[in-house]
Amino acid sequence: MQRSAKKIGLAIVGAGRVGLFRGAVAARHPAVEWIGIAEKSANRGGDVGATIGADFITTDHRELLRRPEVTAAIIATDEHLHVDPIMAAVERGVPMLIEKPLATTLADSARVLKAIEESKLDAVVGYTQRFRRRWLAAKEKVRTNALGDVTLVTSRAFMNRLVAIDNYKRTDDPSTISPMVISGTHALDICMWCLEAKTPVEIYARSIDKVLGPLYQGIDATAGMIMFSDGTVYHLNINWALPVTWPGAVYSLEVGIVGTTGVLTIDDTHRDIVLAVSQPQSEGYNPDKSRLVDFMGSYPPGDMAFGELRGPMAEETVSWLNRVALDLPTQAATAAEAHRNLMLTKALDLSAKRKQPVTLPLDPDEEKRAA
Ligand SMILES: NC(=O)c1ccc[n+]([C@@H]2O[C@H](COP(=O)([O-])OP(=O)(O)OC[C@H]3O[C@@H](n4cnc5c(N)ncnc54)[C@H](O)[C@@H]3O)[C@@H](O)[C@H]2O)c1
Repeated sequence: MQRSAKKIGLAIVGAGRVGLFRGAVAARHPAVEWIGIAEKSANRGGDVGATIGADFITTDHRELLRRPEVTAAIIATDEHLHVDPIMAAVERGVPMLIEKPLATTLADSARVLKAIEESKLDAVVGYTQRFRRRWLAAKEKVRTNALGDVTLVTSRAFMNRLVAIDNYKRTDDPSTISPMVISGTHALDICMWCLEAKTPVEIYARSIDKVLGPLYQGIDATAGMIMFSDGTVYHLNINWALPVTWPGAVYSLEVGIVGTTGVLTIDDTHRDIVLAVSQPQSEGYNPDKSRLVDFMGSYPPGDMAFGELRGPMAEETVSWLNRVALDLPTQAATAAEAHRNLMLTKALDLSAKRKQPVTLPLDPDEEKRAA
């Protein structure tokens, strides 16, 4: 059977690290015939545009999304700046790949989700880890009942403090930035994907703020439990305030999934490949030049080799471009799943703040009242 691919005119809003990675992958994709970039920083836009050979560059995402060539959009702005470009892409009526989270408040996320669902547009969210073979294999084992009925899931995510510092420095409202909302959401998405048939009903959590609290009014770590209607428990924690010398570039994760007839454990700490060097490396996520030991593979988008990004974000981008060009289904997270993930991470933060259990689903008004 021969499928004919639709040609894609791709708008990329936000040409930072992720916009560049995805743009470079898109520039090599056979269905992409036009790429436009909107980047607030004119210098950065010009540099990225030249690197990927963009056809159009502007600092105004609305101008980009008005261009007649545009048939699909990637929204890769900073976490707290997704809403306006998503709304503009919805108005334009194009399929979207949106970076996580959908928004940084639950009310905004609900508004964005409603707009996407009412428009019936195909919008997926960048939960990039779903494109790694290990998580796909885990999902398949749970989905095909190899473990029986899953009763307990546990995840431990460790990160050095570089991403946290970067996030707190970029925001003027530290209360919307937390380890759960920004980074814990990736581990949570993988585990909730495996628990897809179950309904979360209650959450309990505690947080610690001894390192990032005094510096940025930030949170170091959150540990919690999500309880499901059938008695299943998901026990999770994230700490993004480890010393800068912790060798994970970004994410280092361990997951256990226990069922009534089987168990699956996944070591995703990346300590299987350790690089130690005498000079700081420029590739990957390494804004601090004192980091000389690295768990290779722990930078979530992937690794550069022969001038190209290899790994999950490259595979996810190609998969999304194929989805748009060929109308193929993919395992990407839907906007509804991204909203659910934000709701759970916000409920964990609220429970930790109140030191009390929170009943699910968390209502956006309750988040507003708590703030
Ligand atoms: N899926 C993953 O594994 C993964 C990995 C890293 C980051 N992310 C997510 O990707 C997003 C971007 O992260 P990043 O690391 O590339 O950040 P970044 O700061 O490097 O890039 C964001 C860029 O967006 C630009 N921008 C902001 N608002 C804009 C607007 N309205 N119009 C045009 N440009 C605008 C900024 O100037 C900046 O250059 C975040 O949501 C982040 O959480 C996802």
